Amino acid sequence: TAYVENQNKPRNEYKEIIDVGYSQLGSESAWRLANTRSIKEAAKDLGINLIYEDADQSQEKQIAAIRKFIDMKVDVIVISPVVDNGWNEILQEAKDAGIPVLLSDRKVEVEDDSLYSTYIGADFIEEGRRAMRWIKENVPAEEEAVNILEIQGTLEASPTVERKQGFEEILNNNSGYEIVYSKGGDYTYAGGKEVIEEYMKTHEWDIDAIFAHNDDMALGAIKALEAYEIEPGKDVKIVSVDGTRKAFEAMIEGKLNCVVECSPLLGPQLMKAIQDLMDGKELPLRIITDEKIYTQDEAKDVLSSRKY
Ligand code: AHR
Repeated sequence: TAYVENQNKPRNEYKEIIDVGYSQLGSESAWRLANTRSIKEAAKDLGINLIYEDADQSQEKQIAAIRKFIDMKVDVIVISPVVDNGWNEILQEAKDAGIPVLLSDRKVEVEDDSLYSTYIGADFIEEGRRAMRWIKENVPAEEEAVNILEIQGTLEASPTVERKQGFEEILNNNSGYEIVYSKGGDYTYAGGKEVIEEYMKTHEWDIDAIFAHNDDMALGAIKALEAYEIEPGKDVKIVSVDGTRKAFEAMIEGKLNCVVECSPLLGPQLMKAIQDLMDGKELPLRIITDEKIYTQDEAKDVLSSRKY
């Protein structure tokens, strides 16, 4: 097709406006809303035509959207994949149609890495390590083991798998820490709240620290704990990932102890990668974003400068 022939030619030799089909996985969290905003704004700023589809956390809907983009013969497809597996076939269809695919935020496990051009996102393994390092330094293991409750994100999503991996890596190198309960909360406020409610129905409260894979779930957990008169941030230490404004507010209130930053502001990097690709430039296989951790001490000073 014309698209295959044009693939490596400088963009300006064949068309002015780049058509990008973007399959966003959903709108499940404050992080995700900021991510969508960042991508839409960056596309607008650069005059890129973004065709946006929200999949409502359904892989089936994502696959249907990607197929639609292939039929539309867009120049580039961007996917934020809800889970990491089950993508071989549809990515092969895009490749056969000569349409390059970029991954934004989450990764895929595929047989052939040439099915996508690059992945832009955070180092989720390091985020998990950072969370457990904070617990190790701030919830010391004494005679009794430190009991940790883990609220995982969407199961089989790359941030869930990798945050858990990084967290357990540090945990396994330090005796006296144990994950005594671990359930998925789908990266939503309601999901985080339900994990705690479910735990309360079936257990005596014996938790020292909570590791929530994102802020929304931590905030839901905080709500549930308060209903049981457990003081979040004091009776139980809580660490989560993202660094949203609401999480900073919860730190200022003393209810959340630490957030490991994961930036959703991927739009500018993503659009630059798309332009480079269309200009025939080679892309690195991974583009990693720069992040840090925040605690209650600095939350007040930092809140006004948070962009999401
Ligand atoms: O994939 C990134 C994760 O997905 C963020 O941590 C979470 O908030 C979002 O829903």
